[in-house]
Amino acid sequence: MIKVLFVCLGNICRSPLAEGVFAHLVAQDRLAAQIGCDSAGTGDWHAGDLPDHRARSTASAHGLALTHRARQVKDSDFTDFDYIFAMDRYNLQTLVQLAKLAGGPPQAHLALLREFDPLPDSLEVEDPYYGDQQDFENCYQTVARCASEILAHLKIKHELG
Ligand code: 4NP
Repeated sequence: MIKVLFVCLGNICRSPLAEGVFAHLVAQDRLAAQIGCDSAGTGDWHAGDLPDHRARSTASAHGLALTHRARQVKDSDFTDFDYIFAMDRYNLQTLVQLAKLAGGPPQAHLALLREFDPLPDSLEVEDPYYGDQQDFENCYQTVARCASEILAHLKIKHELG
């Protein structure tokens, strides 16, 4: 199985939205047996929490229920996952450092999520945590574009579907 991890800071706004959309697209394509996904945060402040209520209401408006419980990135993520997509450069940099500390052979391919954005006005998914509902909707639109592009890429690369 190909495994994909989405990573932000708190794991309650951006990465659970990305994971939720991606999982939905994978299920729509009937590829759940071939592609797995999860999300995590580089910080641990919200471990165990459901996504932020604004992330959940935004997802819900798009027909998605977010039930993920926040967790922090752990050493085994770098060997368990094939791809790890960071929401911004700060979190990518943290992931690079954590991967070095975790030791072992590099397994997961680390990248910025928005490297896959067909409308890349920036390479970062802006943090909506201190923003309003519209910022969450913009975040949803951004991660949804990227999730779709990543899935298309994986289907071609791994000859799925
Ligand atoms: P996220 O947003 O990284 O997209 O989940 C944040 C959530 C919480 C905090 C920061 C960003 N925080 O500082 O608690």
